[in-house]
Amino acid sequence: MAHTHYSQALISLITLTLISRPPLQMVESAIGVNWGSVSYHRLSPSIVVDLLKHNKIQKVKLFDADPGALRALMGSGIQVMVGIPNEMLSVLSSSSVASDLWVRQNVSSYVGKYGADISKFRSKEEEKEVSSDLVSLDDYEECRRYIAVGNEPFLTSYSGQYQSYVVPALLNLQQSLAKANLVGYVKLVVPCNADVYESSLPSQGTFRPELTDVITQLVSFLNSNGSPFVVNIYPFLNLYQNTDFPEDYAFFEGTSHSVTDGQNIYSNAFDGNLDTLVAALSKLGYGQISIVIGEVGWPTDGAPNANLTAARAFNQGLINHVLSNKGTPLRPGVPPMDVYLFGLLDEGAKSTLPGNFERHWGIFSFDGQAKYQLNLGLGNGLLKNAKDVQYLPSRWCIANPYSDLSGGMTNHLNIACSAADCTTLNYGGSCNAIGAKGNISYAFNSYYQMQKQNSRSCEFDGLGLITFLNPSIGQCRFLVGISDNISSSVVSHTSFWVLSLRDYKIQIINLDVMSGVITQGLNVAYNDSVMIERKKDDDGNEKEEGFLSGEDGFETLYEKDETTDGVLGGIEFEFKEMPVGGAALDLVGVPLPD
Ligand SMILES: *[C@@H]1O[C@H](CO)[C@@H](O)[C@H](O)[C@H]1NC(C)=O
Ligand SMILES: *[C@@H]1O[C@H](CO)[C@@H](O)[C@H](O)[C@H]1NC(C)=O
Ligand SMILES: *[C@@H]1O[C@H](CO)[C@@H](O)[C@H](O)[C@H]1NC(C)=O
Ligand SMILES: *[C@@H]1O[C@H](CO)[C@@H](O)[C@H](O)[C@H]1NC(C)=O
Ligand SMILES: *[C@@H]1O[C@H](CO)[C@@H](O)[C@H](O)[C@H]1NC(C)=O
Repeated sequence: MAHTHYSQALISLITLTLISRPPLQMVESAIGVNWGSVSYHRLSPSIVVDLLKHNKIQKVKLFDADPGALRALMGSGIQVMVGIPNEMLSVLSSSSVASDLWVRQNVSSYVGKYGADISKFRSKEEEKEVSSDLVSLDDYEECRRYIAVGNEPFLTSYSGQYQSYVVPALLNLQQSLAKANLVGYVKLVVPCNADVYESSLPSQGTFRPELTDVITQLVSFLNSNGSPFVVNIYPFLNLYQNTDFPEDYAFFEGTSHSVTDGQNIYSNAFDGNLDTLVAALSKLGYGQISIVIGEVGWPTDGAPNANLTAARAFNQGLINHVLSNKGTPLRPGVPPMDVYLFGLLDEGAKSTLPGNFERHWGIFSFDGQAKYQLNLGLGNGLLKNAKDVQYLPSRWCIANPYSDLSGGMTNHLNIACSAADCTTLNYGGSCNAIGAKGNISYAFNSYYQMQKQNSRSCEFDGLGLITFLNPSIGQCRFLVGISDNISSSVVSHTSFWVLSLRDYKIQIINLDVMSGVITQGLNVAYNDSVMIERKKDDDGNEKEEGFLSGEDGFETLYEKDETTDGVLGGIEFEFKEMPVGGAALDLVGVPLPD
């Protein structure tokens, strides 16, 4: 997504001549989502596709042509925009062989399979085309409609490095689509950042001078193929980058800083931005080309303006605005053709170059849980969470409360955070106020989860401690990773109790000594007691069952086949024989050091 943005002077009373209004037809906008997957904790594609279906999301935009995602989308009826990364533009621009291959591998192969999958739903048109393996236009449009050639290739910060490849790549790909009999079914587009145009007032919009030629060629190409102009618009970045940007102008709830542009009055940055594009396109003679919003959204963490309330207000305001079909002053009654929210899920492994918020754009968290109540306007009410998400066991890695915080801890924090995601710790983040020890614990856990809870990843020279007590504090969520595997780590042979004390709680952990895998954990209140009952199983082997008796009554704790006494984690414990053949575990604890 966007890295830079033009600044927009907002308050002006200059009167300008109106740009003639294009006689566009009313279109029904549709809300789609961007599905990026730059994450350490990737949901399986089938869970994501179910999430889309469950939320009635009909359009999805990808940043590549990931076979896993495309296979999961096949037959879903969801319309897909596949992406070609900027890095591929050079080869696609210079080699028609490469372009043929790309289309064959990343488009045609799915069309064939898809066609087979849905053969019984073929349309009349399709029935006539007996010899063709291809599905009909109608069916095909359900499957996929766009290829995004590059992603914001003209971004200012790329200093023009992709600029000369875009149009030649488009021409090659169009040829390849023709060879594959897909012209008309698949349309090529080029998502542009809003930094390709600039202006202080919408009606004065022009493309950046150095882009005039290439954009003219691009728009001419799009126009002749019936493709829309795709633009990414981020009022959040206007606000983030310009301290004098009026906050309420970024949203849709009315503003005390409306922009007067001739007879037009703009009350939100989105419309102002969109009309700047309309004006710029008009100057090239393409004022009527359809516009699709490739990315728009608001992050929830990692910056002071990135929070749940603001994200909800922006996205709901945007959706309501677009679906009201009001359009903009330069295109009244004509909202963008499609609007792809950015994004579906948080992507915790994205570059933080734009800012720490960059990993927090999702309307869902990384694990497919709705972050806030949002009605996508798709007739399905509020967001529904992902189902059947397989998590790793509920355990976290924290800074051992018995270790002091000097020297080593900070080094370990830096190492953990350079690998894993710690963006919420920073100024404006949801975990910014959890204190020095909290910071270290957060970093340790982030790393531990990224390493799929490999026990060695919580060592940190003995400074890490695995806990079953969820260390999340207020809005600050200590995450538990997602399991790639359905069958997670299983039970132990040799196990013993590890006890540790946290606040006035005692924690009991059943640890498999051989593998280091913790199989069971439970929190015991300070004066609760644990009883262990020895039993013989059917084969005559001795077994134990642990019971907890506390305020909540009686609860079975564990089953195991060996007992150990000792001192662990700073807590002494011993087994005592009980009259009924069981054993009581006396917990002798010391309060946590501050
Ligand atoms: C198809 O797309 C994938 C994912 O973007 C890419 O890795 C692969 O190189 C593409 N295939 C060809 C032949 O270019
Ligand atoms: C959330 O962001 C909004 C919009 O920028 C801001 O006005 C508000 O103060 C923020 N809320 C919190 C709790 O930081
Ligand atoms: C925790 O880390 C963040 C980010 O580096 C920093 O801003 C904050 O001051 C730290 N808190 C403490 C108490 O050191
Ligand atoms: C499950 O995880 C193990 C170890 O991490 C790996 O070797 C195995 O291939 C995985 N199985 C599947 C089905 O992904
Ligand atoms: C635990 O029990 C002892 C002795 O009955 C009592 O003095 C102490 O306050 C209790 N501790 C807690 C945390 O309830």
